[in-house]
Amino acid sequence: MHDEQGRVRGMVESSQADRGARPAELEAIIRGRRSVRRFRPDPVPRDAVERILEAGRWAPSPHGSQPWRFAVLTRPEIKARLAEAMAEAWLHNLAMDGEPEEIIAKRLAGSRRRLLEAPVLILLCLYLGDLDRYPDPERQAAETTMAIQSLGCAAQNMLLMAYSLGLDGGWMCAPLFCPDVARAALGLPETVIPHALLTIGYAAADPRRRERRPLAELIVKDA
Ligand SMILES: Cc1cc2nc3c(=O)[nH]c(=O)nc-3n(C[C@H](O)[C@H](O)[C@H](O)COP(=O)(O)O)c2cc1C
Repeated sequence: MHDEQGRVRGMVESSQADRGARPAELEAIIRGRRSVRRFRPDPVPRDAVERILEAGRWAPSPHGSQPWRFAVLTRPEIKARLAEAMAEAWLHNLAMDGEPEEIIAKRLAGSRRRLLEAPVLILLCLYLGDLDRYPDPERQAAETTMAIQSLGCAAQNMLLMAYSLGLDGGWMCAPLFCPDVARAALGLPETVIPHALLTIGYAAADPRRRERRPLAELIVKDA
């Protein structure tokens, strides 16, 4: 037998052996995770933050390109700088939508509070530098879409890890609407594109859960 075949067989055997050892609580963690938008001020241990980042690192990615970079923000002045910068960009958009002034003020205050109250913010940025290059725009666009899908995988890994550690997380899409503003506020390199902000901490209260559609509604074909 060739070495290569032996290796392949070994991998199959070990994956079968591992199957019984996989943590049984995964389903409970998946179902238990919820979006938390109010946090207690208690600090999050650095070790927990690192385990959350590690979980992101192990997400699947197209060709193993790992097209994500993470900015970890814990200092109040840094969080405030990001909050102020993004609020200004959002203010512009809300005004463009014709939202009444008092609604704008309320929404901006809520967003600012969320950023400042969460002990840890993790900004997930897209990094396109290691993607495959194609001569046609269709395949290049698909490559970018795959990278964004992969960033979602990293985010979910992080949220599940946070939950499994007794923490909670929230997802804020705000940076997606003002990536240049978020990048400039944090002094991040031009090569990273801010996409999603995860707020991490200890839940101040149990949030109301969103209903899930029945599985039968989601399966469009089961042949
Ligand atoms: C791509 C994406 C963007 C989201 N953006 C926001 C957001 O900007 N603000 C927010 O409060 N929640 C946001 N969420 C969280 C969703 O509102 C939440 O996941 C959904 O309501 C289901 O609730 P659950 O997470 O508690 O199960 C986002 C989630 C995803 C996946």
